[in-house]
Amino acid sequence: MKKPLMAGNWKMNKTVSESVELIKILKNMVHYVTNVEILVCPAFTALYAVNNEIKGSNINLGSQNLFWELKGAFTGEISPTMIKDIGCSYAIIGHSERRQYFVETNEIVNRKTKAAFSTTITPIVCVGETLKERESNMTSKVIEKQIRESLFGLTLGQASSLVIAYEPVWAIGTGKTASPDQAQQIHHFIRKIYEQMYSKDVAYEVRILYGGSVSPDNISDLMKKPDIDGGLVGGASLEAESFIKLIRFFE
Ligand code: PGA
Repeated sequence: MKKPLMAGNWKMNKTVSESVELIKILKNMVHYVTNVEILVCPAFTALYAVNNEIKGSNINLGSQNLFWELKGAFTGEISPTMIKDIGCSYAIIGHSERRQYFVETNEIVNRKTKAAFSTTITPIVCVGETLKERESNMTSKVIEKQIRESLFGLTLGQASSLVIAYEPVWAIGTGKTASPDQAQQIHHFIRKIYEQMYSKDVAYEVRILYGGSVSPDNISDLMKKPDIDGGLVGGASLEAESFIKLIRFFE
């Protein structure tokens, strides 16, 4: 049985002390939770301090990015080895903000995904269409290309253990969510593509998160859908109260 995953993407928010303040509250309020896997992805600068707070708890740590080489002359980059060393078990890869502002292509996302696996970090690989692509009926085409190219050439074990996040770009930080039916349709479509690339079992086992304005108000309708296995949450993960509500939904 797949365990759902509730992941908080803090993006470029919070100093070290603000991050520690939030994680302390979170840790105390969700310590009894067992039905959902909990993940926080703070900024690189706060990973060490947050890791110290969550040791021995039911909260996991992830980074928001990583580089595709393990070490070397790549000024300003952070390697999977370093991410692992600081206590991360997950890394978000190919978030739409990275695709948009830092020109991350599917090929780069693929290299980063493989690099993450080489240090036993579980990648959370993001895909999603822009508003323009949706309005011109390109959604399926865009998603298929992102999935096929970003997740190309993995072993069956890797393909089933990674996490995919479907995040329609037009729904991120806008307060507009894809309707549960719209989300379900794409999640199901992703499984179909994945089945062709790998196998029926892998497509069934892989967890697919929905992201884009997830909040305590819409979590229940989204999670009723059979192909949605959790959420990747930005805004609502920055406040203890709303993120705790999202986590407790699963209990
Ligand atoms: P949001 O962000 O919840 O603020 O829309 C989601 C994300 O970008 O992962």
